[in-house]
Amino acid sequence: DADTLEALERLAVEVCVEAGRLIVDERPANLGVSKTKSTATDVVTVMDQRAQDLLRTRLHEARPQDGFLGEEEGGAASRSEITWVVDPIDGTVNYLYGIPSYAVSVAAVVGDPTTPGAWRPVAGAVVNPVTGELFHARHGSGAWLQVGTATATRLEIAAPPQLGHALVGTGFGYDTGRRHWQATLLLGVLPHIRDIRRIGSAALDICAVAAGTLDAYFERGLNPWDMAAAWLVLTEAGGVFTGLGAAPPNDQMVVAAAPTLHTALHEVVLHAAERSGTETTGG
Ligand code: IPD
Repeated sequence: DADTLEALERLAVEVCVEAGRLIVDERPANLGVSKTKSTATDVVTVMDQRAQDLLRTRLHEARPQDGFLGEEEGGAASRSEITWVVDPIDGTVNYLYGIPSYAVSVAAVVGDPTTPGAWRPVAGAVVNPVTGELFHARHGSGAWLQVGTATATRLEIAAPPQLGHALVGTGFGYDTGRRHWQATLLLGVLPHIRDIRRIGSAALDICAVAAGTLDAYFERGLNPWDMAAAWLVLTEAGGVFTGLGAAPPNDQMVVAAAPTLHTALHEVVLHAAERSGTETTGG
């Protein structure tokens, strides 16, 4: 009910902000300069795990029956309707380099988040702990952006109606075969749009579409934790979030845009995907 959704949203915001503080406060100052060493990557993994442990502990204290699914190891099955789907650091490469575009993403979802089409987010929050931008939403109550201590503003998606005027975000997975496929796909999309951005945090990119600092977004290879909270922020702001064709959002593709733009972008991505053929797997 409405009270429960509000409580879930409040909890998502609270833990998200706390984990955000942790990853910023404890990010070693020399991480950027040592980034070529494997130890730097290890530090990121350690911070990822620490932030996830914090999220899991806090959520478990507040709602012990709920399930938990995170990017790092240590999930839990749900004994309630709710599973928390979290990304402790979305944009880990930006985190490594000290580029201020990384986020903590926390969503309460119903259904099974490991099966595309079998789940949906009902409350969630995404925070950029460097800029203090906090996006949050619960089902049926709109999407909100709060920056620092300023009053939250309600997000209403707006975009140019023509794809040719749209600034479109995307992202790339880490697998070589997938990257080749993604580059080919991009060749099919680029002629149809104003320009492309690869900012480096899917959660922030999808929230940016809700806030109007990007017009649209597509990516192959997203995991539930990259998209869960931002999906709700986008749709509560009036946006459309789908997979390809009739498919629900899944790891094969997500397309996010205002309703006026979504149909055109979806068509271009679909055709480009068909022309790109089959992805090869590679190391
Ligand atoms: C990644 C980022 C990136 C996207 C990748 C994700 P991570 O998440 O969101 O922008 O392109 O597909 O895996 O690994 O930094 O949590």
